[in-house]
Amino acid sequence: MRAPRVYLETYGCQMNVADSALVTAVLRRAGYASAERPDDADVILLNTCAIREHAEERVLGRLSYLYRFKSARPEVRLGLLGCMAQHNRAALVEKAWYLDLVAGPDAYRRLPEMIGAASFDPQVDVRLDRAETYADIPAAHAEGVRAYVTAMRGCDRFCAFCVVPYVRGRERSVPPNDLLREIRALADKGVREVMLLGQTVNAYRFDDVDFGELLRMIARVDGIERIRFTSPHPSDMSDSVIDAMATEPKVQPYVHLPLQSGSDRILAAMERGYTVDGYLALVAKLRRAIPGLAMSTDIIVGFHGEDDADFRATLEVMRAVSYDGAYTFKYSIRENTRAFKLGDTVSEDEKQRRLNEVIALQEQTSLERNRALIGQVFPVLVEGAARRGEGMLAGKTPQFKTAAFPAAPGIDAGDIEMVRVESVTGHSLTCSRV
Ligand code: 5AD
Ligand code: SF4
Repeated sequence: MRAPRVYLETYGCQMNVADSALVTAVLRRAGYASAERPDDADVILLNTCAIREHAEERVLGRLSYLYRFKSARPEVRLGLLGCMAQHNRAALVEKAWYLDLVAGPDAYRRLPEMIGAASFDPQVDVRLDRAETYADIPAAHAEGVRAYVTAMRGCDRFCAFCVVPYVRGRERSVPPNDLLREIRALADKGVREVMLLGQTVNAYRFDDVDFGELLRMIARVDGIERIRFTSPHPSDMSDSVIDAMATEPKVQPYVHLPLQSGSDRILAAMERGYTVDGYLALVAKLRRAIPGLAMSTDIIVGFHGEDDADFRATLEVMRAVSYDGAYTFKYSIRENTRAFKLGDTVSEDEKQRRLNEVIALQEQTSLERNRALIGQVFPVLVEGAARRGEGMLAGKTPQFKTAAFPAAPGIDAGDIEMVRVESVTGHSLTCSRV
């Protein structure tokens, strides 16, 4: 008898991509094989995101499309995993009554059992478990020179706009020994770079190991050349973490530091736990400690009560910091969050107008910052063929910028090559070999 096949589609952030690798590992252990397409699958799963309404709408649209495979072959099991499962529970079962299973982020261990039982009854498990770290399950990582490794799960910060603490539950860290075991195994398989993941990854703590100490421990793993992490919270950027970034050569000079807003009034309403001055002082401290540091950020426009002056203040801070990149979002009001009861005060048109303005500013800044790199030499960790350009290889600089350069015999994925920046766009560097 052939192994039953699972088709798994992933939406949302890198944490979800990592969770899908975990789900794949759990299902493989239980005898399932992977399907490339839904038409070949016995089980169809969607790992979902709830952070903004738009993300949820996309998944609902996709779900009704995938339902056709189930109507054609009624034995197909259709399931929804992840943050949206947790966020919508009851509503989901109504909107998508044909779902066979709904599993939240702490229920993945039970998936084989749930899929089995779903032949008889729809299965729902959205219990959150403050102890679940899946530390004992090696994820089925995608091949490549970089691996994404979950260091901590959940979030305790409860920013007023954010649904994450409700759908992913309390903060918990994977024991350092389990992480080191996994990272050593990855290094043996040819991985050269690890990206540590967590919703507030620098809040990592297990007994007396804080995030700075964890970085130092991972830096001692032979074969791992580069260490990165995302996303840190500004308030958890301790001296221990900054010191590890400054003194461990393997920890790369790039940090994603979500600002959200450049107005103190809005930051307070968002319950972010820092002021603009505090944030800027941290940026200055990081830049003093880490030469050549690249920075990116997250910006939300149109949060409850944001007026034109607040919005201008955000543009002002973006100019003052001069980020290498920014992820920009229109505020999307989410049920259950602290800001839900405040309501949505900025019109959709106005949000769009503000979004366009932050995007335009960032495009200009990214281009200016990359132009300043022309002529400079960087070590690039080679990932493989460039997406564009015949005969070109691509990889990342220490600052996590995509660099493309001419291929040559003997240069392979996993090598570190020195390249000189010749020309740039806001998103990538075209280089020569040196
Ligand atoms: N609306 C818009 N953006 C949001 N984010 C989180 N919640 C919301 C929301 N309700 C953004 C924040 C966060 C990033 C991952 O997503 O900027 O840092
Ligand atoms: Fe959401 Fe804030 Fe936690 Fe980030 S720190 S996941 S924005 S609640």
